[in-house]
Amino acid sequence: MRRRLPALLVMTATALSAQDSPAEKLLARKDPLVIAHRGSSAHAPENTLPAFNLAKEAKADLIELDYYHSKDGQPIVFHDKTLDRTTDAVARWGGAKIPVESKTVMELKTLDAGRWFDARFAGTPLPTLAESLDCIQAGSVTLIERKGGDAATCAKLLQSRGEVNKVIVQAFDWKYLADFHALEPKQILGALGPPSTRDGKKLTDEEKMLNAQYIREAKASGARVIGWNNKVTKESVAAAHATGIDVWIYTVNKPEEANALLDKGVDGIITDDPALIRKTIGARK
Ligand code: G3P
Ligand code: CA
Repeated sequence: MRRRLPALLVMTATALSAQDSPAEKLLARKDPLVIAHRGSSAHAPENTLPAFNLAKEAKADLIELDYYHSKDGQPIVFHDKTLDRTTDAVARWGGAKIPVESKTVMELKTLDAGRWFDARFAGTPLPTLAESLDCIQAGSVTLIERKGGDAATCAKLLQSRGEVNKVIVQAFDWKYLADFHALEPKQILGALGPPSTRDGKKLTDEEKMLNAQYIREAKASGARVIGWNNKVTKESVAAAHATGIDVWIYTVNKPEEANALLDKGVDGIITDDPALIRKTIGARK
């Protein structure tokens, strides 16, 4: 459970921003957040509009997506570096390991991003970031994860749509977060970890545990949320809370795992099945 701020501070922050910012309201909530990972990706192809619509039906508090830049510099929603796993790119164009960043948005829009999951979703296109925001922001809040591309392009897109701080932006690359923070200090940012390497060396499981140094570095990047895997303890979650940072955990699809993490005090569960985790949280009350 997140730490309580002094009443005066809460009142001031509320007066300044919460009324206009659904993202601020989410961080102010006391109950754990349900965050749909790539949409309701247990039930529809990840990072597509059908997955986002199902997540809205499941009343997800936030809907996560991933984006890269297309060859012509447009943010396009997609998880992997290459198109092979979740589209018909290889069948259409031949070859293998086709980078998403090597195709224009017009080319990417011709792909089928649904059939790999189930024939019912055949013909589902990759959405652009703008199309995804149109869908998700009408009823939920977008958790944008940057996989590729610069901070200025995303910041500009949000500015042009009047959506700065109406979404949350997260990244594994904390330099990107610092750049975003410099451009738009009020935008809520999430620092994802653990890193898989440091100074070119693979980290051990012990080194991947959330610790005071990670929390300090996340804070220095401008982040107000840490998104971590299950390598957290009750103590490390409390240490993050003591610095004003919330902790969300990915990717949790089993009620017993969600319950164990919630017992450690985490503030949000990132899941492929938001309906199941909503039910799990409801059963704790
Ligand atoms: O939201 C965090 C989570 O999505 C990070 O991992 O690989 O699913 O993007 P990944
Ligand atoms: Ca992601």
